[in-house]
Amino acid sequence: MQEQAPIYFDEQGYASLNDYLAEQQPSKVVIFVDDNSEDHCLSHFLKQVTFEQEPITIAIPPGENEKHMGTCMALIIELTNQNLDRKSLLINLGGGVITDLGGFVASIYKRGIPYINVPTSLLAIVDAAIGGKTGVDLEHLKNQIGVINQSQMVLIDENYLKTLPKKELHSGFSEMIKHGLVSSQEHWEAICSAAKDDSVSPHALIKDSISVKHAIVEQDPNELGIRKALNYGHTLGHAIESFCLSSDAIPSLLHGEAIAIGMILETYISVQLFGFPQKEADKLNDLVKQLYPKVKFNTDQIEEIIELMMYDKKNVDGQVNFVLLEDIGAIALDCQVDNDLIMSAFEYYKQTL
Ligand SMILES: NC(=O)c1ccc[n+]([C@@H]2O[C@H](COP(=O)([O-])OP(=O)(O)OC[C@H]3O[C@@H](n4cnc5c(N)ncnc54)[C@H](O)[C@@H]3O)[C@@H](O)[C@H]2O)c1
Ligand SMILES: [Zn+2]
Repeated sequence: MQEQAPIYFDEQGYASLNDYLAEQQPSKVVIFVDDNSEDHCLSHFLKQVTFEQEPITIAIPPGENEKHMGTCMALIIELTNQNLDRKSLLINLGGGVITDLGGFVASIYKRGIPYINVPTSLLAIVDAAIGGKTGVDLEHLKNQIGVINQSQMVLIDENYLKTLPKKELHSGFSEMIKHGLVSSQEHWEAICSAAKDDSVSPHALIKDSISVKHAIVEQDPNELGIRKALNYGHTLGHAIESFCLSSDAIPSLLHGEAIAIGMILETYISVQLFGFPQKEADKLNDLVKQLYPKVKFNTDQIEEIIELMMYDKKNVDGQVNFVLLEDIGAIALDCQVDNDLIMSAFEYYKQTL
């Protein structure tokens, strides 16, 4: 079994990367970016790192719409044209789209070359860059193709967040809310207070959020059990994200925005089935009301979203498996939920938020 990648911070992170480069002597280094991380993050990154030979930069346009096999093929062709061998290194410098897609290509190119994640969005810092999940979407179906394969290291530098648009910060904060709900009352309370002060990315909170994810992946790297907790809000959230990606009726939502709605719905279901405390559900409602757009779904759309859940990766034998909560940090895995209850959850979202 692969060990989880070490996570390094700030100067120590760049020192570790420089040591890695000096020790491993990669034959070539490719830095994979999107246009935004190239504009805002690449020069800061290059200033901290010593390369024996000029790295090659490959950029793609930004956004979830690029996270598909076509982009992977274009990247693989480019790596081939650049004559990258198996001793080469891919550095993913960007948000979750770059770390997911770059990590996946590194995992399959010539049966795998080493890669390093340098996340630049809040979402990638606290979630996507950690834990070794890589992959791409199949049309509108999220992360339908992929592998779990650990990077060599994750290098966290919060300086990159200075240029991240507020909407994107909020999207990343959604995964931090999730980490609060599935971990402990203490971390959950800290998340709620930070949002009240409109400060969604204080350093200590980010570090704690990273620790929550790291500790869960450490226990269950291949998602046979407890790692499924990190999918809280994602069974309905991914289906909503897929629906919005494929529909003209509702504008596309950012990943974290869709997951925020998913968490409201799945928390309502948790209250109904497991007596999850209503007062904590109310706190979640307040956060989501404050930070994320409200979306109106009609009955036909909700039915389509329910259909889309059939593609969820936690399903076994055609059965949709939810992760639910009995309390903050008390997780119930592999729960089945009637469609009627899902309908009521959407009704609750419509009425309450
Ligand atoms: N692998 C995992 O475990 C995991 C976990 C959670 C989410 N994800 C995936 O992550 C993706 C979402 O990640 P994301 O929100 O980072 O998306 P993203 O990569 O699209 O980044 C969001 C936006 O911010 C821009 N950006 C990134 N860094 C910037 C910076 N420093 N300054 C200015 N702009 C910057 C990007 O160009 C993009 O426009 C989804 O595809 C989701 O499925 C994966
Ligand atoms: Zn997510």
